[in-house]
Amino acid sequence: MRVLGIETTCDETAAAVVRLRPDGSGEILSDEIMSQIAAHAAYGGVVPEIAARAHVEIIDTLIARALAKAGLSAKDLDGVAAAAGPGLIGGVMVGLMAGKGVALATGKPFIAVNHLEAHALTARLIASVGFPYLILLASGGHTQILAVKGVGDYIRLGATMDDAVGEAFDKTAKLLGLAFPGGPAVEAAARRGDPDRFHLPRPLVGRPNADFSLSGLKTAIRQAAEAAAPLRPRDVDDLCASFQAAIVDVVEDRMRMGLKLFRERLGIAPRAVVAAGGVAANEALRQALERLCGEAGLPMVAPPPKLCTDNGAMIAWAGIERLRLGLKDELNAPARPRWPLDPKAECALNNKA
Ligand code: KG4
Ligand code: ZN
Repeated sequence: MRVLGIETTCDETAAAVVRLRPDGSGEILSDEIMSQIAAHAAYGGVVPEIAARAHVEIIDTLIARALAKAGLSAKDLDGVAAAAGPGLIGGVMVGLMAGKGVALATGKPFIAVNHLEAHALTARLIASVGFPYLILLASGGHTQILAVKGVGDYIRLGATMDDAVGEAFDKTAKLLGLAFPGGPAVEAAARRGDPDRFHLPRPLVGRPNADFSLSGLKTAIRQAAEAAAPLRPRDVDDLCASFQAAIVDVVEDRMRMGLKLFRERLGIAPRAVVAAGGVAANEALRQALERLCGEAGLPMVAPPPKLCTDNGAMIAWAGIERLRLGLKDELNAPARPRWPLDPKAECALNNKA
């Protein structure tokens, strides 16, 4: 089974072809990506209108390239998957319509993929991870801890009440004059800095739930930066190291609670602990989760950084996971700016989950 995957929900335009091997594992035949970082850098964040236009300009080329690199033509595909949300609606519509066009022209099945589900299932593309597993899904727009029971079957155990973890990295970078996107820039500075120099809060640590609240940390880092101004490079490094240490402590504690809630809700231990989404590219965070898994005697799976941040292969793989269960969509599948994985956990106050 070979499926084309198309991703346009945020600031990466991506197209990839993934093959399902007879043994159930996945093989990435091609993985094309065009980052829009340069187009948004001047604004310190993603500008939706610029993003949508940039997707339109490049999507056809990327699809053609992904097929060529896989050595296939569109008629050789077994399905076409496109991210149908959640995300910036203008961008989502570009990829969704391109995917529907290829499916219509070739008569192949179409799969409207939830971008969050694609992040959540990527672990199964790179390793043989069985259900159920516990996942930290942390990106620029989302932070949640989920029990993944199966394809399309999620229980949300915790989520952020305000900022997403990636957003906290991005805002800290902006505050300190570092490059966009902030995660990699803060991580690089943190490597040189002293994590004990600034004492920052660890919000919600110790609370008997698996939720996050990061706005207090954001205020604390701003105040620490103001108090230390004018900032020398050394100060920026120390602020980044102190910030990252606080985030890592918070994530480790929230995941420890997530593990406990998982056992209570499902009555069994997870088969693995998985980290996904752009923030899972962070090395310090991966090490903290390794530690936690070591304690709990569970395997920890984190895709390579390239498959943690947005990409086409994860959409193609989610398409394969659905298609092999007989799940496909009509060509009138809508673009969905919001699309929670666990609709029952949807909370009116929470717009970041
Ligand atoms: O999954 P993703 O590529 O896009 C969204 O769906 O949001 O995640 C992007 C987010 C950004 O906030 C970025 O700063 C963060 O992931 N990120 C990182 C790292 N690499 C990317 N955060 C911390 N450390 C990193 N190394
Ligand atoms: Zn993402």
